[in-house]
Amino acid sequence: MKKSDPPKKTPRRSQLSYGKQDKDGFIHRSWMKAQGYPDHCFDGRPIIGLCNTWSEITPCNSGLRELAEYVKRGIWEAGGVPLEFPVTSLGETQMRPTAMLFRNLLAMDVEESIRGNPIDGVVLLGGCDKTTPGQLMGAASVNLPTIVVSSGAMLNGKFRGRDIGSGTDVWKFSEAVRAGEMSQEDFIAAEGAMSRSRGVCMTMGTASTVSNLTEAMGLCLPYNGSIPAVDARRQVMAHMSGREIVRLVEEDIRLKDIVTKASLINAIKVNAAVGGSTNSVMHLLALAGRLEIDLQLEDFDRYSRDLPLIANLMPSGRFLMEDYHYAGGLPAVMKKIASHLDLNAATVSGKTLGEQIEPAECYNDEVIRDLDNPVRESSGIWVLRGNLCPQGAIIKPNAATPELLKHTGRAVVFESIEDYHARKDAPDLDIDENCIMVLKGCGPKGYPGMPEVGNMALPKKLLEKGVKDMLRISDARMSGTAFGSVILHVAPEAQAGGPLAVVRSGDLIEFDGEARSLNLKISHQELQSRLQEWQADRPESPYQRGYAKLYVDTVLQADRGADLDFLVGGSGDEVSRESH
Ligand code: FES
Repeated sequence: MKKSDPPKKTPRRSQLSYGKQDKDGFIHRSWMKAQGYPDHCFDGRPIIGLCNTWSEITPCNSGLRELAEYVKRGIWEAGGVPLEFPVTSLGETQMRPTAMLFRNLLAMDVEESIRGNPIDGVVLLGGCDKTTPGQLMGAASVNLPTIVVSSGAMLNGKFRGRDIGSGTDVWKFSEAVRAGEMSQEDFIAAEGAMSRSRGVCMTMGTASTVSNLTEAMGLCLPYNGSIPAVDARRQVMAHMSGREIVRLVEEDIRLKDIVTKASLINAIKVNAAVGGSTNSVMHLLALAGRLEIDLQLEDFDRYSRDLPLIANLMPSGRFLMEDYHYAGGLPAVMKKIASHLDLNAATVSGKTLGEQIEPAECYNDEVIRDLDNPVRESSGIWVLRGNLCPQGAIIKPNAATPELLKHTGRAVVFESIEDYHARKDAPDLDIDENCIMVLKGCGPKGYPGMPEVGNMALPKKLLEKGVKDMLRISDARMSGTAFGSVILHVAPEAQAGGPLAVVRSGDLIEFDGEARSLNLKISHQELQSRLQEWQADRPESPYQRGYAKLYVDTVLQADRGADLDFLVGGSGDEVSRESH
């Protein structure tokens, strides 16, 4: 396996603190001995940090405390010393205004916690949507030997004799209540039936997408993306990950040795095959930025064009993550699309990707279809350009209604999420099923944080007519568990002065998926005149202090992954100055 530059250091990084025989060494060791560590723990053996996003208000990560104990077993067994530390945790279902606002804050926390502490390698314990991406971004900027252990997905939701999926069925039930097809009592009764074990959403939402893409990039052991959270085999995998991280430190194999342009492209292809979340675009672009790898928005379209959807999982398909694991999980998917992948890519197991998936088998061809019998021919991410999105926009075709993938319609504009909530069900709202719903002010700077509101629910009067889908356009994101004909991540966003800011109700918008175009049907002159007017009336940002100000002032647009501009790249692991 290729080693990164610079080559292996002597002494080990942790020995720069624990190996000293002076006052500084005394201080570093003595306070650690207060926890009962004997002398030999500081004799030069690998010190492994367990970067844990466990939290009771990140319910999807509530099992990580226990899982960390299994990682520690493996580290001790392999001759290392595990030291667990907490970092910011982000509960997707709990945080306001959106967990995405804080992904970069977590990434900063992770980066500085890893860099500032005397550790030689790190195990990232994450799960819920923004936790693993934030951890990967932070860890990438330090570039120590790194391995990921994910929460794993919940057991299948079970409600009145049928399987229900996290998020996906929330949207369906919510619209059924608004359409008068489901009672409020049944709606509440479904809550406990949906989330009935610890773990992340059990659809192919963002969390499972990220754990699968992490596996595709080789940064975790096989089946990390699919073993259920409560299955003992996840504990075994955690144990084995502890053993592997010690080996990675001993062989000085770092994150950048594993995650390369080739492995990012493998991840993009896998995302198409499994019907992964549109949020993967944001997170992979941000990760590539940290690694200084040239990955462009168009690459998501280019590299997923030939891949059909073969994992039959909600929200694009029928089954859930538990079924996926029993069918063979990601190794089975990757084996079926092996001819599309770079099989020489490295993995943390020490095997190439090709060697790793060689023994994989598929045990259920209905859950993981063959390439010649896909769930959908078109998958992946389509990247759009046009005068409405000069820096791009995206749509997930396999979650859309095929007939709406080419559509021209009259815009019905909502200037903010509050405007949308206030007017969406108004009886006099001038809208029909051929209109295009446009939502502004939900980009990185606008909300702030780019929430998952792009799949805005349809107006009640259309739901009552039986309308199930409409074309929707916004600068927002959408939950990985969501579905619909939804154009997202319009860049530049409205708040940054993008053309989206000046769309008016009644304008015609033309979307042609095949041509990858999205255009506002007004003259260039009219568009420029509206943009100048908008700039002249632009209000001052209400975010004038704290992290929100830092974020709004420095966040990049969606086509760059919405990282903070000064966090792109990395600072490495060297800290030359002592603390005393
Ligand atoms: Fe945490 Fe879905 S809300 S993984």
